Amino acid sequence: MEKSLTSATYLRNISYDLRRALSDFLDPQDRWKDVIVSIRKPGGEPRYSQLHVRRFEGLVAQGRSPTVELLNDWGTTNSTVGELVDILKSRDLLAAACLFLPVEEVFPAETKQLSAAPPAPPTRLLGEAETPPPSSSSDPQTQLLQADRETGHTGFSSFSYRELMRITGNFDDRSISNGGRRLGMGGFGTVYKGFLNVIAVAVKKLNPVEDMPLDKLKVQFDQEIQTLKVLKHENLVDMIGFSCDEQQLCIVYAFMANGSLLDRLACLDGSPPLSWRQRCLIAEGTARGLEYLHLNHHVHRDVKSANILLDENLVAKISDFGLTRASAKHTSTTMMTERIVGTRAYMAPEALRGEVTPKSDVFSFGVVLLEILSGLAPANENKEPQLLMEIRYDIDDEDEELTLEDFVDKKMSDWELSQVETIYCLASNCLHDRKNRRPVIKQVVSEIRSVVKNVSLDAQK
Ligand SMILES: Nc1ncnc2c1ncn2[C@@H]1O[C@H](COP(=O)(O)OP(=O)(O)O)[C@@H](O)[C@H]1O
Ligand SMILES: [Mg+2]
Repeated sequence: MEKSLTSATYLRNISYDLRRALSDFLDPQDRWKDVIVSIRKPGGEPRYSQLHVRRFEGLVAQGRSPTVELLNDWGTTNSTVGELVDILKSRDLLAAACLFLPVEEVFPAETKQLSAAPPAPPTRLLGEAETPPPSSSSDPQTQLLQADRETGHTGFSSFSYRELMRITGNFDDRSISNGGRRLGMGGFGTVYKGFLNVIAVAVKKLNPVEDMPLDKLKVQFDQEIQTLKVLKHENLVDMIGFSCDEQQLCIVYAFMANGSLLDRLACLDGSPPLSWRQRCLIAEGTARGLEYLHLNHHVHRDVKSANILLDENLVAKISDFGLTRASAKHTSTTMMTERIVGTRAYMAPEALRGEVTPKSDVFSFGVVLLEILSGLAPANENKEPQLLMEIRYDIDDEDEELTLEDFVDKKMSDWELSQVETIYCLASNCLHDRKNRRPVIKQVVSEIRSVVKNVSLDAQK
């Protein structure tokens, strides 16, 4: 919330940053349309017609934000922040309303709810069996969760930290193979397996953020989550809920049975190699997920094979979208070296300088395509070049020995050179140093789709 704002502030006086912040809430899933139909002229009649709505819709194709443009237009009248906040509240867009006025004024009920949470039952013992309890439906706490989930908005729940402790065996830090619950660890936190009733979930416990008062962080975190929860697509990992009632912030995701693309390409834990056909479908799914994010004005910022998860049918699901903003915003100055090193392998030149655009996601996706083709890790200290993205100079250089055929992962048997060439060519274009030369994600999707079509035809032969 901006301090200088009051309900009486004219809309034309709100900052560009604040307009953008609001667009993060209202652009996804066209929620600005809920707002626009509620805007009235002083006489009470609607200010905007269907024709206006269509005009604002058309802006999306030009890469512009309908929310920002709507505020620009609406701001030419004497309308105030108070009017905007009233509309946001009437549409249940409470977190968006919090951008403008103090939290207590906007959603007093929920603030109370947090502090009046019922006491949690005793937590489970460490190392308790991983399978969900058979009598779970009679467990009062589970019933409570169930009720919560049924009444909650769009099935999205707010959990208490203690509930999450309970369903993850006290955040059992031993790996799954050792009977624990830890699925993995990343730059933002640690991920644990848990069970909600009989449904497997992944609980991500975010690393504590330094130098940030917790109450401020909670509001920010909650706002970010409110935005992210409306992003739903078959190629995005479903976010089920979150907790922010204690020192620890957590996000609950659908559990992805086949883990990450990074691990499956490396055949970790003895998993069978992915076939060329499966890899093409995974590439297509990932590109489609990214296209959806970009259409909704979200840059992922951390596209990498560890963030492409695979469900039980090997459908690609992008995870961690928006997380860079939900959690790392305030740690950027103290970012762990490990994290910088970890993502350097995927970063576009301009992203390294701090410039973030959809084209930086396209660049990172180019590295993922090279991983898919070669089965190689994105970075390897013991190799020259260390970064996979630099291998393309060797492949493209006639004087170098490395050919595209050598580069292809020999762990797959069904690849076809012309298809491999198309994907390699696409990867090279995505990896262009100059962002304007890279394709937009829509073009990437259609290129991959043309290969997938051929692969499917081959499979029918
Ligand atoms: N929803 C999920 N289902 C199954 N495994 C997951 C899920 N989310 C994360 N993981 C596993 O946990 C690991 C760590 O995740 P994360 O903290 O996001 O770090 P990173 O993306 O940097 O690897 C992932 O690489 C993946 O193997
Ligand atoms: Mg991740």
